[in-house]
Amino acid sequence: MANLLITGAAGFIGANFVHYWLARHPADRVVALDALTYAGNINNLDGAMANERFRFVHGDIRDGELMEQLLADADIDLLVHFAAESHVDRSIHGPEAFIDTNVVGTHVLLQAARKVWLEEKRIDRPVLFHHVSTDEVYGSLASDDPPFTEQTPYAPNSPYSASKAASDHLVRAYHHTYGLPVTTSNCSNNYGPYQFPEKLIPLMLLNMLEGRSLPIYGDGRNIRDWLYVEDHCVGIDGVITHGRRGETYNIGGNNEWANIDIVQLICRLLDQRFGRDPSLAERFPAAPAAGGGRSEELITYVTDRPGHDRRYAIDATRARNELGYQPAESFETGIEKTLDWYLTHEAWWRAVMDGSYREWVERHYAQG
Ligand code: NAD
Ligand code: DAU
Repeated sequence: MANLLITGAAGFIGANFVHYWLARHPADRVVALDALTYAGNINNLDGAMANERFRFVHGDIRDGELMEQLLADADIDLLVHFAAESHVDRSIHGPEAFIDTNVVGTHVLLQAARKVWLEEKRIDRPVLFHHVSTDEVYGSLASDDPPFTEQTPYAPNSPYSASKAASDHLVRAYHHTYGLPVTTSNCSNNYGPYQFPEKLIPLMLLNMLEGRSLPIYGDGRNIRDWLYVEDHCVGIDGVITHGRRGETYNIGGNNEWANIDIVQLICRLLDQRFGRDPSLAERFPAAPAAGGGRSEELITYVTDRPGHDRRYAIDATRARNELGYQPAESFETGIEKTLDWYLTHEAWWRAVMDGSYREWVERHYAQG
């Protein structure tokens, strides 16, 4: 039985992880912390709110006093750290928030864990700080390079990946210097329910539905390794449960796709759905498929992202051998599930896109 503090719990992966953990670990209690930035959405936790093993706290990981108080008062023995600024394009336009949350915020959490767990010895059970990181810390691969292993040297290229790399190093240092029990997972691109529509897959899908252009950066041949978000949750669970303390584990889907191929796939799948289901044309009249056209007509090549990494690919041999990790979802089924989710959660994404969910957050969770 564990008491978890999950940071960034109202974001995309954090919220999926909360639902996953409550379902899979019926004896555990979860404190979900989130600052509710533009990317955090309290509605993502709807299904958990009524659970008596669950509690939401509106707070910032940079608030050291609050972090210490939560760790001690809620008797936390497992901290799972998702909170971050996560979007590469935003990091290019404004790196400061990435340093503040990803580097300083992670360090504040580490300090709090060290104080409460190691110095004050407030918890009398084994403890763990699990840090959720990214494959982007390893930099960019050429088309014939082998995938990233845990031994690949760090070479972050964007302010986002540099801030995540810095946080990984701090986590490692707290283990080596102070003996803090830590694990880190470095995962590839996730997709699935609750993903904020600034990221490739939901952005493209919702633009198709609304008849907006589909902006492909550069030549569209940049490659990412896509993993269904629940498979990421299973991987993190494996690392927490069986991973060696002080180690890092790569988690990936063995599923490399060029961006343009993914966008064309979603175009085809959506057009087929419009063909099968006439109600979609009524609900989304601006979609090309509603008028007998093809979603692909919306594809527009635009100026490349500065410093755009060409290819990411994960070698998950360590996770497979040591944890028995294997993604369960195929890309074909995962992408269909994702389409289903966005088509049946129109109110969710409309509120996200028109900002009305933020007004609700501000009314209910005013700071101070
Ligand atoms: P997200 O942007 O959807 O969610 C981040 C959450 O953190 C939001 O709810 C936000 O409100 C919260 N947050 C931000 N700053 C905070 C602060 N100072 N204090 C408390 N909460 C704060 O991100 P995501 O895609 O869910 O990513 C979660 C984690 O997983 C990140 O650490 C990211 O680097 C990592 N990751 C993401 C992917 C991916 O494909 N999305 C892949 C690998 C690793
Ligand atoms: O690899 C893991 C990382 O994946 C995570 O650490 C990040 O938090 C997450 O945001 C993601 O980063 P990417 O930059 O790979 O994801 P994004 O969805 O922003 O872009 C995916 C690819 O699609 C990338 O090559 C850029 C391209 N792209 C993206 C957008 C938003 C486009 O061509 N057009 C777009 O409009």
